[in-house]
Amino acid sequence: MGGFDSIDGRNSSSTKGKVVLSKGAVVAYVIVTIIIIVTVGLLAGLLPKRGEIDCPPVDKPVETTASSGVIVSTGADQTSPSGPTGPWADVRLPKDLVPLHYVVDLQPNLEPVSTDYYVFNGTSSVDFTVKNATSYIIIHSNKLNYSEVIVKEIETGMEQSSSFSTYEPNQFLVVEMSTKLVVGKNYTLSTVFMGELADDLGGLYRSSYTNEAKESIVIATTQMQPTDARKAFPCFDEPAMKATFDIKLWHKDPYFALSNMPNITTEVIDGDWKRTTFDTTPIMSSYLLAFVVCDFDYVQNATSKVQARIYGRPEQIANGNGDYARDITPVILEHFETFFNVAYPLPKTDQIAVPDFAAGAMENWGLVIYRETALLYDSMINSASNKQRVAVVVAHELAHQWFGNLISPAWWDELWLNEGFASYVEYIGTNAVEPTWRMNDQFVVSDLHRAMNVDGLTSSRPIVAENVETPSDINALFDTISYSKGACIIRMINHFVGDDAFKLGLMNYLNEFEYGTVTHKELFQYWGNAVATTPGVENPPVGFSNAMNTWILQMGYPVVNMKRESTTSTNVKLTQERFLLDPNAKLDEPTSPYSYVWDVPFWYLSEDETSKTLLWLNDADVTLTVPAGKYFIGNYEAFGYYRVNYDDKNWQLITDKLNGGFEAIDVKSRAQLIDDAFQLARAKRLDYTIPLRLTEFLRSDFDYLPWESALDAIAYLVRMLGRSKAYGPLSTYMLDLVGPLYNNLTWIDGGSHLEQYQRINAIGTACGYGHPGCVQNATDKFNEWRTTGSNSITPNLRTTVYCNAIANGGSEEWDFAWEKYKNESNSQEKAKLEYSLACTRTPWIIRRFLDYVLDDTYVRRQDASSIFQDLCYNEYARDMTWDFIRQEWDFIYNVYGTGFFSFSGIINSCTSHFSTDFELQQLLGFKDTNGDKLGSGVASVEQAIESTNTNIQWRKDNEEVIFTWLSDQVSSL
Ligand SMILES: *[C@@H]1O[C@H](CO)[C@@H](O)[C@H](O)[C@H]1NC(C)=O
Ligand SMILES: *[C@@H]1O[C@H](CO)[C@@H](O)[C@H](O)[C@H]1NC(C)=O
Ligand SMILES: *[C@@H]1O[C@H](CO)[C@@H](O)[C@H](O)[C@H]1NC(C)=O
Ligand SMILES: [Zn+2]
Repeated sequence: MGGFDSIDGRNSSSTKGKVVLSKGAVVAYVIVTIIIIVTVGLLAGLLPKRGEIDCPPVDKPVETTASSGVIVSTGADQTSPSGPTGPWADVRLPKDLVPLHYVVDLQPNLEPVSTDYYVFNGTSSVDFTVKNATSYIIIHSNKLNYSEVIVKEIETGMEQSSSFSTYEPNQFLVVEMSTKLVVGKNYTLSTVFMGELADDLGGLYRSSYTNEAKESIVIATTQMQPTDARKAFPCFDEPAMKATFDIKLWHKDPYFALSNMPNITTEVIDGDWKRTTFDTTPIMSSYLLAFVVCDFDYVQNATSKVQARIYGRPEQIANGNGDYARDITPVILEHFETFFNVAYPLPKTDQIAVPDFAAGAMENWGLVIYRETALLYDSMINSASNKQRVAVVVAHELAHQWFGNLISPAWWDELWLNEGFASYVEYIGTNAVEPTWRMNDQFVVSDLHRAMNVDGLTSSRPIVAENVETPSDINALFDTISYSKGACIIRMINHFVGDDAFKLGLMNYLNEFEYGTVTHKELFQYWGNAVATTPGVENPPVGFSNAMNTWILQMGYPVVNMKRESTTSTNVKLTQERFLLDPNAKLDEPTSPYSYVWDVPFWYLSEDETSKTLLWLNDADVTLTVPAGKYFIGNYEAFGYYRVNYDDKNWQLITDKLNGGFEAIDVKSRAQLIDDAFQLARAKRLDYTIPLRLTEFLRSDFDYLPWESALDAIAYLVRMLGRSKAYGPLSTYMLDLVGPLYNNLTWIDGGSHLEQYQRINAIGTACGYGHPGCVQNATDKFNEWRTTGSNSITPNLRTTVYCNAIANGGSEEWDFAWEKYKNESNSQEKAKLEYSLACTRTPWIIRRFLDYVLDDTYVRRQDASSIFQDLCYNEYARDMTWDFIRQEWDFIYNVYGTGFFSFSGIINSCTSHFSTDFELQQLLGFKDTNGDKLGSGVASVEQAIESTNTNIQWRKDNEEVIFTWLSDQVSSL
């Protein structure tokens, strides 16, 4: 993933509040993404990454290199083809050969060969057809050492004379034939090889845990997506190169093996070794293979046709932590079967939680692999958001069994066809099992706002990516654009075509292309046809594909201006313009094939109307007639992927209505109006007093959605103004605003799912801005745990309580949490403690914690960068942390530079508050000193310089206005 930040989910939930992501961990090529629990842990000034949070692609993969860099030594005849000419020079595979069937036999050795050095060995054969006469078999292979490579013609069984070598720059095994392979004939390539079983989270790798008997147990597991199947065995490792696979795995008692298909035999080989053979897979892409050798337990369930098991560490399964996933899986599977009208394609579905996993989860066909926080749930100690995280990720991965697995993108540039779909359908699947969670409303404050934040920057990209070739290009696509923006566009389409045409198009598309590959062209064609043949689709776009291409082939999105011709006029003119957050950015750069004009499905509603109207807006302006003196709202119910701006009078009418009867306006629109107003003000398209006034109705509206939206938007103000005179009136205003909500929700846990979320917002905000009763309560609850030894804090409030108690406490509180952290085995609870330790405001404790973070006997290396990020979001700790990181940069770069460390995540979080010339100079100095030691952080340093400049300008433009408005408000309280 090069220098790009990606995310996944260590404890994430897609609702931030509860859990916020920190930026992903990346280094060199290793990305381990990380998510951090932040219960809306808003400490004044400790506040939040809210709003700036990247999305938690739940199954973002990792690109890995062996962390040790140690590779089994290369055989004598394995020299590289000399130089970059020849058919191996292109990073894409030639189309001369088409794979048909593989037989892969792997033996992961779970006992070390020497200290921390483990290996696997195996054999693999692939049958292929020749489409074009060629002298070369070029097949992917990475970090494998070959002892035998043989080519035979299948019909005759004759071995063909050949020699082999590897071309490492493109991760190829190159077999050169003495005579050309003949068009139309089939051959088998058979290999015998060996590789390191490293703990590098990629390909076939090892993971470990400590069992209840305190023994260290090593297991083998896989993460192939996108380009690491080639690290387990030689394969044509591109998604369109589909084939069938026979998998065999070796293991010793009490270990057993799992793969995509059910096992058919287990035979005793010799001594302790056994070998399990699995049934032949359907035609599938190599990146969806999965192999596991472990000693786990499971719980099971079934749909009417398909067995569904949940595997985990024996201790976790015994504790019932797999039960929730077990209960919901068949319901979600059957819901999707009905929704897509296509049966689940495999005879079984296994889901397994492994101790070390880079992404949140991976949708391997028939054997989905998760990190523990995304599959296991302990109802006694985990929170509502931990539970939602499990439901959402399970729904996401199960959706991929159709979208991604049954049909796959022709190439990675169309990754959104997988991830956008799964990220949309995860809401539908979760809603099927948890209908009271208001998943469809939550979409607005999670994926929609997240996507629009990222896509409002000039550094964004079109959904269908350009110039995607290398593994690092591919890894960079697992981002907010593929996931969240993809989901937003699909949701917008669903809304204007209606459920019937939406489902009909999908069913036909799945049936037509099953076991094959697709691009957006086929998808849009099938939806276009479905729209044409489904009665009752109101006002479809003219030319479905062309209209939708404006959303996926250019970056960004529009703001629709909806303005009265004069304050008394009943004529409202609609125009669209590209929206960019930076007011000084050029609206026409970089160039777009559609010149930043979109075919906008524009919905609007005016006061007194009961249902909204849809019209299509492109580059021609449209004039509407509206009733005099009444408000109107564009993008009503927030299904559109665009912002709406109004004339000042209309903003006033809306604000009045919200203050005098907010219930009249749809709750999703209330959240959207707040986000639009704040972002429009940030882009200098609106005076800041308008969004600020718009927050006043939150004194009476207690719904989660508008609050969540407001807290996200205000987080940017807090970061900019945390050390300015405006912070005083801001915190007084916020305390006043949250007062009614805080009193309404109280500290007594319960109520609906979103009331539980909202209580965290209420308490987090009140305590964060220093509400004395709130802080006292948090401290008392924490100290009760500390003194009695029994933790009676309700799981939903743990992060908030821990964080505030530590922030307002001293070394006793911190030391207590540190001891708990070191010994905690529940992954979600451990993450809450880890986040809370970073809430301290005491300088010497911060300093000591910084030292602990770099000591891997205390903190696992893969967790270190997320702690630095948490500390950098803490207003009290950020200077010390930034100084420490700069001071220790050489050490960090050398030790963590080959491992799990997100330089880009650290740079993003540690500079996110920067808004002064002095900070800019520091940043420039850092770049000068460490230019050659930034690893994956190079692009982030450039972005940080750019956003610091923008922030400096923002403060010049807005600080005074905001200060004045807040001061006026506060003086009248
Ligand atoms: C791995 O290597 C050992 C020793 O050479 C051999 O006996 C075994 O068959 C190999 N395993 C596989 C799966 O090829
Ligand atoms: C076959 O190979 C030739 C020469 O490399 C190339 O020009 C042609 O496009 C190839 N055809 C196919 C079907 O790949
Ligand atoms: C090659 O394999 C394909 C697929 O199994 C088969 O249809 C074809 O007849 C084979 N060709 C030859 C020459 O055996
Ligand atoms: Zn996914």
